[in-house]
Amino acid sequence: MKFFIDTANLDEIREAHAMGVLDGVTTNPSLCAKEGIADFDGFIAEICGIVEGDVSAEVVSTDYKGILEEGRKFARIADNVVVKVPLIKEGIKAIKTFSEEGIKTNCTLCFSPTQALIAAKAGATYISPFVGRVDDISTNGMQLIAEIVEIYQNYGYATEVLVASIRHPMHVVEAARLGADVSTMPFGVIEKLVKHPLTDIGLEKFLSDWDKLQASQ
Ligand code: E4P
Repeated sequence: MKFFIDTANLDEIREAHAMGVLDGVTTNPSLCAKEGIADFDGFIAEICGIVEGDVSAEVVSTDYKGILEEGRKFARIADNVVVKVPLIKEGIKAIKTFSEEGIKTNCTLCFSPTQALIAAKAGATYISPFVGRVDDISTNGMQLIAEIVEIYQNYGYATEVLVASIRHPMHVVEAARLGADVSTMPFGVIEKLVKHPLTDIGLEKFLSDWDKLQASQ
């Protein structure tokens, strides 16, 4: 499974990259607003200078022509830019065109298997189902992932399932068990993937026993 970080914070991207397990980055307009990003193109260029893997840059246009203009501009920033396009009718049309032009896309704001199916037919590189937001409305986000993975396998679609809106480590575990291709997660979740209380207790004991051994010699 590929690990992407879902953030617009450069320090978090640098830190996750330094761990050596980061395969890509996703951003969105809300995350950029939170960080006060003024020069979006420059910001994407900076991320692409840190991370070799795919970096999603989201368009804010909602019409076919506008999405194409924004997306083509983003695609010129670096080879690893992926144009993130909302799952609306105009977005699907644009994804089809981007796919014919060899521009990679991440189809975002997916909440149903029918949306995922149509994005794959349009040639999206990634589909982003938002599991946390589905869970938030008392529905099963992981059931959505299972259905999308099954549908894509039935027809051999190349579109990768990028599990988004991840809120906790168990979302990552369940996504991996279902065979999803990518998990994109906040930095806090990446940190939690490493943690286990028995590791901390065990390490503390090993180190204190080692110190006792040294002191006795
Ligand atoms: C995905 O690409 C989105 O940026 C993100 O995962 C949304 O997560 P949220 O529902 O926590 O805002």
